[in-house]
Amino acid sequence: MEQGEPRLRKKSWRRRYICIGVLGVLVLIVVIAVVVGLVLRNNTQQLKGTFIDRCKKFNVSDCQKVWDAFEQAYVGRDPCEVPMEAYDPFIAAAPFEPACNRMMFWSKTKDVVHEFTAKSDCFVTLEDTVLGAVADGLTWCGKKGSSETFTTDCPGWVDCVNNPVRSFWKRVSAAFADAACGNVTAMLNGSITTPFSSQSIFGSIELKRFNSTRMESLNVVMVTQKNPVANCTNASLKMLKAELDNGIQYYCKEVSEAQLKECSNNPQITCGACW
Ligand SMILES: *[C@@H]1O[C@H](CO)[C@@H](O)[C@H](O)[C@H]1NC(C)=O
Ligand SMILES: *[C@@H]1O[C@H](CO)[C@@H](O)[C@H](O)[C@H]1NC(C)=O
Ligand SMILES: *[C@@H]1O[C@H](CO)[C@@H](O)[C@H](O)[C@H]1NC(C)=O
Ligand SMILES: *[C@@H]1O[C@H](CO)[C@@H](O)[C@H](O)[C@H]1NC(C)=O
Ligand SMILES: *[C@@H]1O[C@H](CO)[C@@H](O)[C@H](O)[C@H]1NC(C)=O
Ligand SMILES: *[C@@H]1O[C@H](CO)[C@@H](O)[C@H](O)[C@H]1NC(C)=O
Repeated sequence: MEQGEPRLRKKSWRRRYICIGVLGVLVLIVVIAVVVGLVLRNNTQQLKGTFIDRCKKFNVSDCQKVWDAFEQAYVGRDPCEVPMEAYDPFIAAAPFEPACNRMMFWSKTKDVVHEFTAKSDCFVTLEDTVLGAVADGLTWCGKKGSSETFTTDCPGWVDCVNNPVRSFWKRVSAAFADAACGNVTAMLNGSITTPFSSQSIFGSIELKRFNSTRMESLNVVMVTQKNPVANCTNASLKMLKAELDNGIQYYCKEVSEAQLKECSNNPQITCGACW
């Protein structure tokens, strides 16, 4: 008895330590779970917040509905199995009115073209419409068996063809080109050897959807720098012309980057008079 008591006490102390240890581990697990949950939710909430804010700038009455249509394309899906058709409901939900004679397409001139269109209301790129603006510069994907939106560890542009971001841009580009009307402009890059590539989104999707029942002309603006590499005579442009729907007029003009800068700094001469 006399010897048993301290042993008992020792045992109960040990039990207490084990209890505290187990409790500590449980608390740690809960804390980690909460933090991970918050980070995941922040991902979803952050992307959604940006999306909705940008949507509202276009005076869209129900941006939540547009978000829901966007989200259903990829949430719960393998991020390499999102085809462009998955965004059909988004296209249907996003109110988009084509701006005839002002539509601007581009390939390999992203920065220059947006600098140019941002400074005046003369031309409208896809990224200036609600279709493209809501997701411009963002990355997102879902995961099988999850209802979350992830913004990290998503497949990149070339990792797999049917990834959520690439399929989105293909689908909205198709919608933008389907609506192309009147005189349409396209800015191509004269500083690379092949200004027109049939593999680009412009060559593989947009150009194929231009329709002469709505479109009058395609005006290529070849943006050149100090030492132009290619110009309007380049053979790749003959391929472009050959792919164009019969009945659409084709024009090409070389315009220096310096001239574009000058035009965007003088908004009153930007509308057409720059080339
Ligand atoms: C949105 O609506 C406000 C108020 O009616 C108007 O001032 C603004 O120009 C509109 N914006 C767009 C992009 O239509
Ligand atoms: C054309 O492409 C080159 C090389 O990628 C780039 O440095 C240049 O800024 C582009 N030009 C325009 C007008 O975007
Ligand atoms: C397209 O441009 C041509 C030539 O500048 C012009 O005559 C024509 O009216 C324009 N088309 C439309 C639909 O504005
Ligand atoms: C253009 O539109 C007409 C009528 O909608 C259609 O029959 C034709 O196939 C279209 N052409 C192209 C090249 O998409
Ligand atoms: C266009 O490029 C070709 C060769 O690529 C060159 O021979 C020709 O002089 C250029 N034309 C102009 C107007 O710069
Ligand atoms: C012009 O186009 C052809 C074929 O698309 C390409 O191979 C060539 O390198 C291009 N560039 C120049 C500067 O000639």
